[in-house]
Amino acid sequence: MAQILYKYYLFILLSILLIHSFVTFAHSKRSIDETKPCKRIVLYYHDILLNDTNIDNATSATVANHTQLGNFKHGMLVVFDDPMTKDNTLSPPVARAQGFYFYDSKNEYNAWYSYTLIFNSSEHKGTINIMGADLMGDETRDLSVVGGTGDFFMTRGIATFRTDGIPNAFYFRVEMDIKLYECY
Ligand SMILES: *[C@@H]1O[C@H](CO)[C@@H](O)[C@H](O)[C@H]1NC(C)=O
Ligand SMILES: *[C@@H]1O[C@H](CO)[C@@H](O)[C@H](O)[C@H]1NC(C)=O
Ligand SMILES: *[C@@H]1O[C@H](CO)[C@@H](O)[C@H](O)[C@H]1NC(C)=O
Ligand SMILES: *[C@@H]1O[C@H](CO)[C@@H](O)[C@H](O)[C@H]1NC(C)=O
Repeated sequence: MAQILYKYYLFILLSILLIHSFVTFAHSKRSIDETKPCKRIVLYYHDILLNDTNIDNATSATVANHTQLGNFKHGMLVVFDDPMTKDNTLSPPVARAQGFYFYDSKNEYNAWYSYTLIFNSSEHKGTINIMGADLMGDETRDLSVVGGTGDFFMTRGIATFRTDGIPNAFYFRVEMDIKLYECY
């Protein structure tokens, strides 16, 4: 009798554990809804590339020139410390974007970005780290938010790029729609 009871209890216990893990799994899958970030920040990135005449205004510089592979600047590496503004004019910046991009495709304009957004204002203090491919042929491109510090401690999410304007060969603007899905 005791033996049967023991088996019965064991069965119940295992069933509860199984149901619990299913519920947890289903819940964890549901808890990331792409349309509902826990924080969203839309900013404009201004990249003003150093040339012979704009040293007072430039915010980025070519540190390795392109190679002879293809016609899309393959291999050109740019290091930047660019202003991030709330609108698409060169208004007072609310953050800096510091990092680099390089062109990496033989057949089209493609860049690879790795940079940190540095916030030091009354609104936000901290950093957001972003990396990924900027497939410039697409209207919008998603890069990964891989982490953060300060107000953005341990965050993760998506930074959606949209080219906002290319006034000349040495200045372009990108709208960065930063959606965070992990906020602590
Ligand atoms: C550089 O910035 C100054 C203001 O700081 C502005 O008057 C000038 O037009 C800018 N020059 C270029 C080439 O953007
Ligand atoms: C890169 O090479 C181009 C010509 O292919 C040249 O016009 C340009 O000045 C070079 N830039 C740098 C930073 O060396
Ligand atoms: C952040 O802002 C404060 C106050 O304006 C300033 O004292 C501090 O030096 C700034 N830090 C950085 C890293 O810019
Ligand atoms: C240098 O870059 C500025 C943008 O910052 C642009 O207005 C200017 O025409 C460029 N100069 C040359 C010589 O291409």
